[in-house]
Amino acid sequence: MPIISSFCKKGGVGKTTFLGYLAHYYATKGNKVLIISADDQNSIFRIFGKGDFITNSNDDYFEFLLAGKCEPGDIVCEARINMYIIKTLNTNTLSMNLTLKRAEERKLRDTIADFTRFFDYIFIDFPPSSSRLSEILLDISDNILLVVGLDTLGLDGYLNSIQYFVDSDINLDKISHIIPTGYHPVKLAPKNALKQLKKQVAEYTPKAVVTTPVADRSVIRNCQELGLSLFDSEKLDSKFHEKNRITVKNELQSIFDDIKL
Ligand SMILES: Nc1ncnc2c1ncn2[C@@H]1O[C@H](COP(=O)(O)OP(=O)(O)OP(=O)(O)O)[C@@H](O)[C@H]1O
Ligand SMILES: [Mg+2]
Repeated sequence: MPIISSFCKKGGVGKTTFLGYLAHYYATKGNKVLIISADDQNSIFRIFGKGDFITNSNDDYFEFLLAGKCEPGDIVCEARINMYIIKTLNTNTLSMNLTLKRAEERKLRDTIADFTRFFDYIFIDFPPSSSRLSEILLDISDNILLVVGLDTLGLDGYLNSIQYFVDSDINLDKISHIIPTGYHPVKLAPKNALKQLKKQVAEYTPKAVVTTPVADRSVIRNCQELGLSLFDSEKLDSKFHEKNRITVKNELQSIFDDIKL
């Protein structure tokens, strides 16, 4: 079953937010979904109000599974119906391990292959930093969604990511979609950045589809503050915010529906 990753070498562009809601949307449609946090900040948990899980046990990390010290069931957090999340302890340590012990790399690939038998979709949330772990997980991904912020630094993030793929020998064709973020309907700068991005995509990743840009919406930050997903069924207290939540949820849903996975 497909492994879908969100990636960008630039931090804070909305990788975790986009991937988290995409995964939750798939779960609400009845798919069994697993999210692997390859980012040792594990911020994906907070989006779903599961921040406590990050620190509540010493042995429920992905690394303990790879070391054969626990079972898959011991390390998954059931974040929502049909949606499970696994956290990472420290990608640098694991990465060092993987570089030292090639056998661990095989184990990692086998472990993920096992997961693909139990889940309909596997989503992987990446940090902006590079590591051997990231390289392997990118390599086994079927679809990579490259999330790009619509400003000058964001565009650099696109080019840096392409350079990273080339340097690490990861197939650029895995980048199936480019997700522009930080769009604003009346601001000129994001519009110009989008034009520029499309030119770069045509040159370096011509097979990738540039999706409708994700708009900057304060209701997303408000929901994340409350640990509520846009795709949860409970309503927000204020009617105004609830109306916004539905609008933004529909915006995202139409982008998700356009991404054929
Ligand atoms: N569409 C959006 N509208 C408004 N705010 C957003 C949107 N998407 C994300 N944010 C906010 O931007 C911040 C960064 O988002 P997020 O954590 O998803 O980015 P990231 O690329 O995963 O960051 P990192 O590189 O640290 O992993 C968060 O505070 C989040 O609430
Ligand atoms: Mg993130």
